[in-house]
Amino acid sequence: MSYYKIENLEQYFKHYNKSVREPRKFWSKIASENFTWYQESEKIVEFDMAEAKIKWFVDAKVNIVKNCLDRHLSKRGEKTAIIFEPNNPNDSAEHITYNDLYSRVSKMANVLREQGIKKGDRVCIYLPMIPEIAVSVLACARIGAIHSVVFAGFSASAVATRINDSECKMVITSDGGFRGEKTIDLKGIIDEALLNCPSVENVLVVKRTNSSIKMKEGRDQWLQPLTEAASDNCIAEIMDSEDPLFILYTSGSTGKPKGMVHTTAGYMVYTAYSFKNVFNYEENDVFWCTADIGWITGHSYILYGPLLNGATTVMFEGVPTYPDFSRFWEIIEKHKVTQFYTAPTAIRSLAKENLSYVQKYPLKSLKVIGSVGEPINEEAWHWYNDHVGGKRCPLVDTWWQTETGGILISALAFITPTKPTYASLPLPGIQVVLMDEKRNEIEDNQVTGSLCIKFPWPGIARTIWGDHQRYKDTYFSAFPGKYFTGDGALRDEVGYYRITGRVDDVIIVSGHNLGTAPIEDAINEHPAVAESAVVGFPHDVKGNALYGFVILKESGEYRDRANLTKEINQHISDHIGPIAKLDKIQFVSGLPKTRSGKIMRRILRKIAEGDFSNFGDTSTLLNPEIVDEIKEGRL
Ligand code: WTA
Repeated sequence: MSYYKIENLEQYFKHYNKSVREPRKFWSKIASENFTWYQESEKIVEFDMAEAKIKWFVDAKVNIVKNCLDRHLSKRGEKTAIIFEPNNPNDSAEHITYNDLYSRVSKMANVLREQGIKKGDRVCIYLPMIPEIAVSVLACARIGAIHSVVFAGFSASAVATRINDSECKMVITSDGGFRGEKTIDLKGIIDEALLNCPSVENVLVVKRTNSSIKMKEGRDQWLQPLTEAASDNCIAEIMDSEDPLFILYTSGSTGKPKGMVHTTAGYMVYTAYSFKNVFNYEENDVFWCTADIGWITGHSYILYGPLLNGATTVMFEGVPTYPDFSRFWEIIEKHKVTQFYTAPTAIRSLAKENLSYVQKYPLKSLKVIGSVGEPINEEAWHWYNDHVGGKRCPLVDTWWQTETGGILISALAFITPTKPTYASLPLPGIQVVLMDEKRNEIEDNQVTGSLCIKFPWPGIARTIWGDHQRYKDTYFSAFPGKYFTGDGALRDEVGYYRITGRVDDVIIVSGHNLGTAPIEDAINEHPAVAESAVVGFPHDVKGNALYGFVILKESGEYRDRANLTKEINQHISDHIGPIAKLDKIQFVSGLPKTRSGKIMRRILRKIAEGDFSNFGDTSTLLNPEIVDEIKEGRL
């Protein structure tokens, strides 16, 4: 029996039980039968949850790109690997076959080697959603360089922080990027970032917008002439299963972003397996995930998961609202997309518009629709299910994280019955538990608790770059012996999970994780600001929006509050990026603090939501009188 593809619900339970009783046998069989290895693992897994040390496919040797590309060439060489849909609908889409992609990746990999990049070196990729981002990621992986993709919406200072944290030797960027009607000056942002990044030796620049940019002598080179001159024969590096594959930064509850490190073999096996089963992938499907490759969803389900399965994956450069609100639906129709995977924030923003935008298109090619990134509310769920899925496509609500590498809790299309707003059941291999406040495992159903996983799975991140202690503290200390997700969840009477949201100081705005601390740091850098606190409040489209409570310094200089608000938002934009701007700023004279000096955020959250009914226990507050003042001044 093969475990790679689950055929029905009964088999799901069988596989699940097998994966719990004999995880080594279960994963060993999947790994051995579905991938090509230089050397297979005998031990399969070794771990110590107390130390947060996890190894999968111990001692195996493999190259993930050989699995994504080379092994498909004999059967699928002329099959389309990537359909690139450009920002402008009048430009023609590009169909890149497996043969083409193999040759482009090999050339790029040779360029990287010629430029001095070796196994283990870090390469920062700051590119728009164009084929070169896929080619660059895979070229790094082919030669064992560690890619660190930074989302091309981050500011110069945010990019610099990430480059410096992992000491990248090279940056790959472009002269600009198209997003809807805008052109984004990526190279200008990199130039500014690199003023403070001593580790970077080379910058390779892709020509995309033909914008006029500055090229720094001795540092910057145009990429195209180099790849044209390069050979397309590139021997892949033999990687140990636990060699790092990539670093991807995610927000934490302290100021510094966390460089999550994913390693080679476990990530490979888990993304391929989860892709195949959650989306019920079959040969000749056309899969489209609308995420950006700058986020984990793009890494795992635009690139690695689909390519490992020899699939055709769509990459879209633009935005859902350009040239109008029907762009997504037009693309589905044009490329006969079979699986469509997007975020609730996109659904909510399109559901606000006239139904005719979506009804213009029959969308008959669709088989499965998916959601990711934040809880999908009931209304958005039904709109998506009715108008996009035509009530006939299973809607898979997939819960997972940058840290988990791949989807952990989700319905499996055509197998698990779906239930609105529930992510439903864990995938085989994922031993989910809910924990109560006393740190005990909750056995009952119909209860809420902290969502933890009690056994490692192959796709879990192995550490935080340069800071294993922080990895251990963040994920393995709240509930000893278990991985703590930072999310709360409800388990219903049949064991389905519904994610209730973050229980820490991370706020999800339009599907982007934002830590409150870095935003507060940015606000506090404004010379007029003494202190600040940021919380989330519900927003129709973004899911959450940001509400900032700001204490000003005692000087009369900043009487123009409107201007001050603008300046504060500009500070945030400069430090983090426009995604972190505050929707509301309230100037206050103090913040509710406990005697130990901790801001009581739950009170601020309630005020931001406009809910004054129950502030809970406020007896530990040092300054209870401030609550009334803030309440009265609420915007
Ligand atoms: C949230 C994105 C509810 C959750 C893949 C998680 C979700 C965080 C869902 C990780 C979902 C993601 N339902 N909440 N289907 N998917 N989340 O690292 O709070 O960008 O911890 O990974 O998003 O966000 P990240």
